[in-house]
Amino acid sequence: MSKKAIAVVGSTGAQGGGLVRAILADPSGGFAARALTRDPHSAKAKELASLGAEVVAADVDDVESLKKAFSGAYGAFCVTFYWDHFSPEKELAEARAMARAAKDAGVKHVIWSTLEDTRRWVPLSDDRMPTLQGKYKVPHFDAKGEANQVFRDLGVPATLLNTSFYWDNLIHFGMGPKKGADGKLAFVLPMGDKKLPGIAAEDIGRCAYGVFKRPDLIGKEVGIAGEHLTGAQMAAELSRALGQDVVHGAVTPEAFRAFGFPGADDLGNMFQFKAEFEGYYCGARDLAFSRSLNPKLQTFSQWLAANKERIPVG
Ligand SMILES: NC(=O)c1ccc[n+]([C@@H]2O[C@H](COP(=O)([O-])OP(=O)(O)OC[C@H]3O[C@@H](n4cnc5c(N)ncnc54)[C@H](OP(=O)(O)O)[C@@H]3O)[C@@H](O)[C@H]2O)c1
Repeated sequence: MSKKAIAVVGSTGAQGGGLVRAILADPSGGFAARALTRDPHSAKAKELASLGAEVVAADVDDVESLKKAFSGAYGAFCVTFYWDHFSPEKELAEARAMARAAKDAGVKHVIWSTLEDTRRWVPLSDDRMPTLQGKYKVPHFDAKGEANQVFRDLGVPATLLNTSFYWDNLIHFGMGPKKGADGKLAFVLPMGDKKLPGIAAEDIGRCAYGVFKRPDLIGKEVGIAGEHLTGAQMAAELSRALGQDVVHGAVTPEAFRAFGFPGADDLGNMFQFKAEFEGYYCGARDLAFSRSLNPKLQTFSQWLAANKERIPVG
Protein backbone atom coordinates (compact mmCIF):
# COMPACT_ATOMS: atom_id res chain seq x y z
CA MET A 1 0.00 0.00 0.00
CA SER A 2 1.36 3.47 -0.83
CA LYS A 3 2.32 5.67 2.09
CA LYS A 4 0.27 8.68 3.17
CA ALA A 5 2.28 11.86 2.50
CA ILE A 6 2.47 14.53 5.18
CA ALA A 7 3.39 17.98 3.84
CA VAL A 8 5.50 19.73 6.47
CA VAL A 9 5.80 23.53 6.55
CA GLY A 10 8.98 24.75 8.27
CA SER A 11 10.70 21.44 7.56
CA THR A 12 14.18 22.91 7.85
CA GLY A 13 13.32 24.47 11.21
CA ALA A 14 12.66 23.30 14.76
CA GLN A 15 9.04 22.10 14.80
CA GLY A 16 8.78 20.92 11.20
CA GLY A 17 12.25 19.37 11.28
CA GLY A 18 11.31 17.27 14.30
CA LEU A 19 8.21 16.04 12.49
CA VAL A 20 10.10 15.12 9.29
CA ARG A 21 12.69 13.21 11.33
CA ALA A 22 9.93 11.45 13.32
CA ILE A 23 8.19 10.30 10.13
CA LEU A 24 11.45 9.09 8.59
CA ALA A 25 12.45 7.27 11.78
CA ASP A 26 9.33 5.08 11.49
CA PRO A 27 9.56 3.53 8.00
CA SER A 28 6.81 1.00 8.74
CA GLY A 29 4.45 3.68 10.10
CA GLY A 30 2.63 4.17 6.80
CA PHE A 31 3.54 7.85 6.36
CA ALA A 32 5.94 9.64 4.00
CA ALA A 33 7.56 13.03 4.65
CA ARG A 34 7.11 15.85 2.16
CA ALA A 35 9.41 18.63 3.32
CA LEU A 36 8.38 22.14 2.28
CA THR A 37 11.09 24.79 2.01
CA ARG A 38 11.63 28.04 0.16
CA ASP A 39 14.96 26.70 -1.07
CA PRO A 40 15.21 23.01 -1.99
CA HIS A 41 18.92 23.54 -2.72
CA SER A 42 19.90 24.65 0.78
CA ALA A 43 22.18 22.42 2.83
CA LYS A 44 19.36 21.69 5.33
CA ALA A 45 16.93 20.77 2.54
CA LYS A 46 19.49 18.49 0.92
CA GLU A 47 20.08 16.79 4.25
CA LEU A 48 16.35 16.05 4.60
CA ALA A 49 16.34 14.66 1.03
CA SER A 50 19.31 12.44 1.86
CA LEU A 51 17.38 11.06 4.85
CA GLY A 52 14.50 10.11 2.53
CA ALA A 53 12.16 13.11 2.50
CA GLU A 54 10.53 14.39 -0.67
CA VAL A 55 11.64 18.03 -0.81
CA VAL A 56 9.20 20.50 -2.37
CA ALA A 57 9.43 24.28 -2.87
CA ALA A 58 6.74 26.39 -1.16
CA ASP A 59 6.39 29.74 0.54
CA VAL A 60 3.68 30.44 3.14
CA ASP A 61 3.26 33.90 1.59
CA ASP A 62 2.28 32.31 -1.75
CA VAL A 63 -1.00 30.38 -1.58
CA GLU A 64 -0.58 28.86 -5.07
CA SER A 65 2.78 27.36 -4.08
CA LEU A 66 1.09 25.89 -0.98
CA LYS A 67 -1.76 24.38 -3.01
CA LYS A 68 0.76 22.63 -5.25
CA ALA A 69 2.83 21.45 -2.31
CA PHE A 70 -0.24 20.15 -0.41
CA SER A 71 -1.71 18.46 -3.50
CA GLY A 72 -2.18 14.71 -3.01
CA ALA A 73 -1.02 14.88 0.62
CA TYR A 74 -2.96 13.09 3.37
CA GLY A 75 -1.70 15.47 6.04
CA ALA A 76 -0.26 18.96 6.41
CA PHE A 77 1.64 20.48 9.32
CA CYS A 78 1.15 24.26 9.38
CA VAL A 79 3.31 26.68 11.36
CA THR A 80 4.20 30.40 11.09
CA PHE A 81 7.45 32.22 11.86
CA TYR A 82 6.68 35.20 14.08
CA TRP A 83 10.25 35.96 15.09
CA ASP A 84 11.32 36.35 11.43
CA HIS A 85 9.11 39.46 11.03
CA PHE A 86 7.35 40.38 14.35
CA SER A 87 4.01 40.83 12.53
CA PRO A 88 0.83 39.19 13.87
CA GLU A 89 -1.04 40.37 10.73
CA LYS A 90 1.46 38.51 8.54
CA GLU A 91 0.99 35.36 10.63
CA LEU A 92 -2.77 35.63 10.26
CA ALA A 93 -2.48 36.05 6.48
CA GLU A 94 -0.12 33.07 6.29
CA ALA A 95 -2.47 30.94 8.39
CA ARG A 96 -5.31 31.89 6.03
CA ALA A 97 -3.18 30.90 3.02
CA MET A 98 -2.32 27.52 4.58
CA ALA A 99 -5.93 26.83 5.60
CA ARG A 100 -7.21 27.77 2.14
CA ALA A 101 -4.57 25.65 0.40
CA ALA A 102 -5.27 22.64 2.64
CA LYS A 103 -9.00 22.93 2.03
CA ASP A 104 -8.61 23.28 -1.76
CA ALA A 105 -6.10 20.42 -1.92
CA GLY A 106 -8.46 18.16 0.02
CA VAL A 107 -5.96 17.42 2.79
CA LYS A 108 -7.50 14.93 5.24
CA HIS A 109 -5.73 15.92 8.47
CA VAL A 110 -4.11 19.29 9.17
CA ILE A 111 -2.19 20.28 12.29
CA TRP A 112 -2.19 24.00 13.02
CA SER A 113 0.67 24.79 15.41
CA THR A 114 -0.97 27.41 17.56
CA LEU A 115 -0.96 29.26 20.88
CA GLU A 116 -3.65 30.97 22.93
CA ASP A 117 -5.25 34.27 21.92
CA THR A 118 -4.46 35.78 25.31
CA ARG A 119 -7.05 38.53 24.77
CA ARG A 120 -9.70 35.95 25.74
CA TRP A 121 -8.22 36.05 29.26
CA VAL A 122 -6.82 39.60 29.29
CA PRO A 123 -8.98 41.93 27.19
CA LEU A 124 -7.31 45.01 25.73
CA SER A 125 -9.12 47.13 28.36
CA ASP A 126 -7.30 45.21 31.15
CA ASP A 127 -4.27 47.30 32.10
CA ARG A 128 -2.45 44.65 34.14
CA MET A 129 -0.15 44.48 31.11
CA PRO A 130 0.38 46.95 28.25
CA THR A 131 -1.42 46.60 24.92
CA LEU A 132 1.18 46.08 22.19
CA GLN A 133 1.13 46.93 18.47
CA GLY A 134 -2.26 48.62 19.01
CA LYS A 135 -4.40 45.50 19.48
CA TYR A 136 -2.53 42.66 21.11
CA LYS A 137 -1.49 41.62 24.59
CA VAL A 138 0.96 38.89 23.51
CA PRO A 139 1.47 39.57 19.80
CA HIS A 140 3.26 36.28 18.99
CA PHE A 141 0.43 34.32 20.66
CA ASP A 142 -2.68 36.28 19.82
CA ALA A 143 -2.77 36.02 16.02
CA LYS A 144 -2.05 32.30 16.18
CA GLY A 145 -5.05 31.85 18.48
CA GLU A 146 -7.15 34.16 16.31
CA ALA A 147 -6.26 31.99 13.30
CA ASN A 148 -7.83 28.92 14.97
CA GLN A 149 -11.19 30.23 13.78
CA VAL A 150 -9.90 30.56 10.20
CA PHE A 151 -9.33 26.79 10.08
CA ARG A 152 -12.76 26.16 11.65
CA ASP A 153 -14.60 28.60 9.35
CA LEU A 154 -13.13 27.01 6.22
CA GLY A 155 -14.09 23.56 7.46
CA VAL A 156 -10.51 22.32 7.43
CA PRO A 157 -10.19 18.94 9.20
CA ALA A 158 -7.66 20.24 11.69
CA THR A 159 -6.16 19.48 15.07
CA LEU A 160 -5.21 22.69 16.89
CA LEU A 161 -1.89 21.96 18.59
CA ASN A 162 -0.95 24.29 21.46
CA THR A 163 2.82 24.11 21.85
CA SER A 164 5.06 25.10 24.78
CA PHE A 165 8.19 27.12 25.54
CA TYR A 166 11.17 25.45 23.87
CA TRP A 167 13.98 24.62 26.30
CA ASP A 168 16.12 25.24 23.20
CA ASN A 169 15.52 28.96 23.90
CA LEU A 170 18.34 28.57 26.43
CA ILE A 171 20.63 27.91 23.46
CA HIS A 172 19.21 30.02 20.63
CA PHE A 173 17.08 32.75 22.20
CA GLY A 174 19.30 34.37 24.83
CA MET A 175 17.61 32.58 27.77
CA GLY A 176 20.75 30.81 29.06
CA PRO A 177 22.01 31.60 32.61
CA LYS A 178 23.72 35.00 32.91
CA LYS A 179 26.06 36.42 35.49
CA GLY A 180 24.35 39.11 37.61
CA ALA A 181 25.90 42.12 39.34
CA ASP A 182 26.51 39.86 42.38
CA GLY A 183 28.60 37.53 40.19
CA LYS A 184 26.06 34.70 40.51
CA LEU A 185 24.73 32.86 37.49
CA ALA A 186 20.99 33.46 37.19
CA PHE A 187 18.31 31.84 35.05
CA VAL A 188 15.95 34.76 34.52
CA LEU A 189 12.26 33.84 34.46
CA PRO A 190 9.66 36.46 35.45
CA MET A 191 7.09 33.99 36.76
CA GLY A 192 7.70 33.98 40.51
CA ASP A 193 6.89 30.54 41.89
CA LYS A 194 4.58 29.60 39.01
CA LYS A 195 5.22 26.70 36.64
CA LEU A 196 6.31 27.07 33.03
CA PRO A 197 5.34 24.25 30.67
CA GLY A 198 8.43 23.53 28.56
CA ILE A 199 9.44 21.06 25.88
CA ALA A 200 12.41 20.04 23.75
CA ALA A 201 11.66 21.59 20.34
CA GLU A 202 12.39 18.22 18.69
CA ASP A 203 9.59 16.67 20.76
CA ILE A 204 6.98 19.02 19.26
CA GLY A 205 7.47 17.35 15.88
CA ARG A 206 7.42 13.91 17.49
CA CYS A 207 4.14 14.73 19.25
CA ALA A 208 2.76 16.08 15.95
CA TYR A 209 3.60 12.73 14.37
CA GLY A 210 1.59 11.07 17.16
CA VAL A 211 -1.32 13.39 16.35
CA PHE A 212 -1.27 12.33 12.68
CA LYS A 213 -1.62 8.73 13.86
CA ARG A 214 -4.79 9.75 15.78
CA PRO A 215 -7.55 10.75 13.30
CA ASP A 216 -9.88 10.92 16.31
CA LEU A 217 -8.07 14.18 17.19
CA ILE A 218 -9.36 15.91 14.05
CA GLY A 219 -11.60 18.78 15.16
CA LYS A 220 -9.97 18.87 18.60
CA GLU A 221 -7.73 21.40 20.36
CA VAL A 222 -4.87 19.75 22.27
CA GLY A 223 -1.73 20.90 24.09
CA ILE A 224 1.68 19.41 24.74
CA ALA A 225 4.61 19.87 27.13
CA GLY A 226 7.54 17.80 28.37
CA GLU A 227 7.42 19.09 31.96
CA HIS A 228 5.89 21.91 34.03
CA LEU A 229 8.66 23.50 36.11
CA THR A 230 9.11 26.63 38.23
CA GLY A 231 12.06 28.94 37.64
CA ALA A 232 13.63 27.64 40.87
CA GLN A 233 13.27 24.03 39.69
CA MET A 234 14.79 24.89 36.31
CA ALA A 235 17.68 26.70 38.02
CA ALA A 236 18.28 23.65 40.25
CA GLU A 237 18.33 21.34 37.21
CA LEU A 238 20.71 23.74 35.45
CA SER A 239 23.01 23.75 38.49
CA ARG A 240 23.17 19.94 38.47
CA ALA A 241 23.74 19.70 34.70
CA LEU A 242 26.30 22.51 34.41
CA GLY A 243 28.13 21.67 37.64
CA GLN A 244 27.95 25.27 38.85
CA ASP A 245 25.42 27.16 40.94
CA VAL A 246 22.57 28.76 39.02
CA VAL A 247 19.95 30.76 40.91
CA HIS A 248 16.47 31.73 39.77
CA GLY A 249 16.48 35.37 38.65
CA ALA A 250 12.89 36.10 39.68
CA VAL A 251 12.49 39.53 38.09
CA THR A 252 9.03 41.04 37.65
CA PRO A 253 7.28 41.04 34.27
CA GLU A 254 7.66 44.87 34.32
CA ALA A 255 11.43 44.52 34.68
CA PHE A 256 11.54 41.88 31.94
CA ARG A 257 9.58 44.14 29.54
CA ALA A 258 12.08 46.92 30.27
CA PHE A 259 15.08 44.79 29.17
CA GLY A 260 14.50 46.49 25.83
CA PHE A 261 15.64 43.82 23.37
CA PRO A 262 13.31 43.33 20.38
CA GLY A 263 10.27 41.42 21.66
CA ALA A 264 11.06 41.93 25.38
CA ASP A 265 7.64 43.53 25.98
CA ASP A 266 5.88 40.70 24.12
CA LEU A 267 7.76 38.06 26.15
CA GLY A 268 7.23 39.94 29.43
CA ASN A 269 3.48 39.90 28.77
CA MET A 270 3.67 36.23 27.75
CA PHE A 271 5.37 35.15 30.99
CA GLN A 272 2.92 37.24 33.02
CA PHE A 273 0.00 35.56 31.23
CA LYS A 274 1.46 32.09 31.85
CA ALA A 275 2.03 32.91 35.52
CA GLU A 276 -1.35 34.52 36.22
CA PHE A 277 -3.28 31.78 34.41
CA GLU A 278 -1.01 28.94 35.55
CA GLY A 279 -3.88 26.55 36.31
CA TYR A 280 -5.45 26.90 32.88
CA TYR A 281 -2.15 27.05 30.99
CA CYS A 282 -0.56 23.96 32.56
CA GLY A 283 -3.87 22.11 32.49
CA ALA A 284 -4.09 22.66 28.73
CA ARG A 285 -0.70 20.91 28.30
CA ASP A 286 -1.13 17.52 29.90
CA LEU A 287 2.09 15.56 30.33
CA ALA A 288 0.59 12.06 30.17
CA PHE A 289 -1.28 12.97 26.99
CA SER A 290 1.93 14.37 25.46
CA ARG A 291 3.79 11.16 26.35
CA SER A 292 1.00 9.05 24.84
CA LEU A 293 1.61 10.86 21.54
CA ASN A 294 5.39 10.65 21.86
CA PRO A 295 6.84 7.91 24.08
CA LYS A 296 10.32 9.48 23.65
CA LEU A 297 9.17 12.73 25.32
CA GLN A 298 12.15 14.24 27.18
CA THR A 299 12.19 15.76 30.65
CA PHE A 300 14.19 18.94 31.24
CA SER A 301 17.02 16.98 32.88
CA GLN A 302 17.17 14.55 29.94
CA TRP A 303 17.22 17.47 27.51
CA LEU A 304 19.94 19.16 29.58
CA ALA A 305 22.08 16.01 29.63
CA ALA A 306 22.03 15.95 25.83
CA ASN A 307 22.39 19.71 25.26
CA LYS A 308 24.25 21.31 28.20
CA GLU A 309 27.42 21.94 26.18
CA ARG A 310 25.42 24.03 23.71
CA ILE A 311 24.02 26.45 26.33
CA PRO A 312 25.92 29.76 26.42
CA VAL A 313 26.66 30.56 30.07
CA GLY A 314 27.69 33.91 31.58
N1 LIG B 1 10.66 29.54 20.76
C1 LIG B 1 9.65 29.05 21.45
O1 LIG B 1 9.75 28.78 22.66
C2 LIG B 1 8.34 28.79 20.78
C3 LIG B 1 7.38 28.07 21.50
C4 LIG B 1 6.15 27.83 20.89
C5 LIG B 1 5.90 28.31 19.61
N2 LIG B 1 6.87 29.00 18.94
C6 LIG B 1 6.55 29.50 17.60
O2 LIG B 1 7.23 28.70 16.66
C7 LIG B 1 7.20 29.39 15.42
C8 LIG B 1 8.46 29.09 14.65
O3 LIG B 1 8.60 27.71 14.44
P1 LIG B 1 10.04 27.04 14.42
O4 LIG B 1 10.74 27.38 15.71
O5 LIG B 1 9.87 25.64 14.04
O6 LIG B 1 10.73 27.88 13.27
P2 LIG B 1 12.28 27.92 12.85
O7 LIG B 1 13.08 26.87 13.52
O8 LIG B 1 12.70 29.34 12.94
O9 LIG B 1 12.21 27.45 11.34
C9 LIG B 1 11.65 28.17 10.41
C10 LIG B 1 11.82 27.43 9.07
O10 LIG B 1 10.68 27.80 8.34
C11 LIG B 1 11.00 28.20 7.08
N3 LIG B 1 10.34 29.44 6.66
C12 LIG B 1 10.54 30.70 7.11
N4 LIG B 1 9.77 31.56 6.41
C13 LIG B 1 9.09 30.81 5.51
C14 LIG B 1 8.15 31.12 4.50
N5 LIG B 1 7.78 32.39 4.23
N6 LIG B 1 7.63 30.10 3.77
C15 LIG B 1 8.00 28.83 3.99
N7 LIG B 1 8.90 28.48 4.92
C16 LIG B 1 9.44 29.46 5.67
C17 LIG B 1 12.51 28.32 7.00
O11 LIG B 1 12.89 27.35 6.08
P3 LIG B 1 13.47 27.64 4.60
O12 LIG B 1 14.46 28.75 4.74
O13 LIG B 1 14.06 26.32 4.28
O14 LIG B 1 12.27 28.00 3.75
C18 LIG B 1 13.01 27.92 8.39
O15 LIG B 1 13.99 26.90 8.38
C19 LIG B 1 7.06 30.87 15.77
O16 LIG B 1 5.86 31.39 15.21
C20 LIG B 1 7.03 30.90 17.29
O17 LIG B 1 6.15 31.88 17.79
C21 LIG B 1 8.09 29.23 19.50
